Amino acid sequence: MYTIVKKEELSPGVKLFVVKAELIARKCQPGQFVILRIDENGERIPLTIADFDRDAGTITLIFQEVGNTTRQLGTLNEGDALLDLAGPLGKATHIEKFGTVVCVGGGIGVAPVYPIARAYKQAGNKVVSIIGARNADLLIMEKEMAAVSDILHITTDDGSKGRKGFVIHPLQEMIDAGEKIDLVMAIGPVIMMRSVADVTRPHGIPTLVSLNPIMVDGTGMCGGCRVNIGGKNKFACVDGPEFDAHQVDFNGLMVRQRMYQDYEKMARCSEGGNCQCNK
Ligand SMILES: Cc1cc2nc3c(=O)[nH]c(=O)nc-3n(C[C@H](O)[C@H](O)[C@H](O)COP(=O)(O)OP(=O)(O)OC[C@H]3O[C@@H](n4cnc5c(N)ncnc54)[C@H](O)[C@@H]3O)c2cc1C
Ligand code: FES
Repeated sequence: MYTIVKKEELSPGVKLFVVKAELIARKCQPGQFVILRIDENGERIPLTIADFDRDAGTITLIFQEVGNTTRQLGTLNEGDALLDLAGPLGKATHIEKFGTVVCVGGGIGVAPVYPIARAYKQAGNKVVSIIGARNADLLIMEKEMAAVSDILHITTDDGSKGRKGFVIHPLQEMIDAGEKIDLVMAIGPVIMMRSVADVTRPHGIPTLVSLNPIMVDGTGMCGGCRVNIGGKNKFACVDGPEFDAHQVDFNGLMVRQRMYQDYEKMARCSEGGNCQCNK
């Protein structure tokens, strides 16, 4: 069992858990994730390790309540425990001194971008971060991102914080101004990651994205997390979750993410949650 030692609400529907998990905390690296199960009846869901403390033997998970399992997770409190926590899974982010690295985080994607930005900074890179959300209330980890960035840009769709617009706008401006960018790392909604790839592709700027397909076992056995990268099938759980953004078939990813939509709606309905089946 893995005890929740701290719980915090970062914004409406976004929660932070610090969980005691000594073996995972000892080994994990930026970019890796865990697969958790709340109890014996629960489904397995992947969550990125947003932070870790090797001395305290804890990892930090930050999640958005989007459906049944994440909502159930959100009802747990300090002192409660998770039944299973498998990890660290996935390949760690390759960290070295590239020069100028732009880290882009959209919505809940700011959480997984944070430890990566910190590691790039520690490796001696100039880190320019761009974080965005639909509105000011949904923006998370501004202080943490500021602490690991040389420059921090904030955007909100409605202009309630930072500049009005999308995260790609400051990135486009940097490119238009002729600023040298050696690497872009983008994590967020698929549509955002695709837009970042579209902005950097014409300029040949190396760009990485962390993909979030449906995952089941997380060990390369079930095929559930299949993604198409440069015309080849890859498993995001063992080959990723980070891939070259310019090679990703984002349309295919979106289709596969919707595969279980009807079942997810039925699950929400049967639990009396945010039912969307129009019954
Ligand atoms: C490697 C990886 C890291 C992730 N890290 C985070 C994170 O740090 N914070 C966070 O809030 N979310 C993260 N996610 C997404 C998170 O796993 C889903 O939001 C969660 O599984 C939704 O479950 P649900 O039952 O609450 O919602 P559901 O109603 O079941 O689904 C809502 C949507 O969530 C996605 N989803 C559902 N089940 C899975 C699954 N097993 N695997 C992947 N996506 C699923 C689908 O797009 C679905 O349409 C990550 C996903 C992956 C693959
Ligand atoms: S989650 Fe099963 S192969 Fe990746």
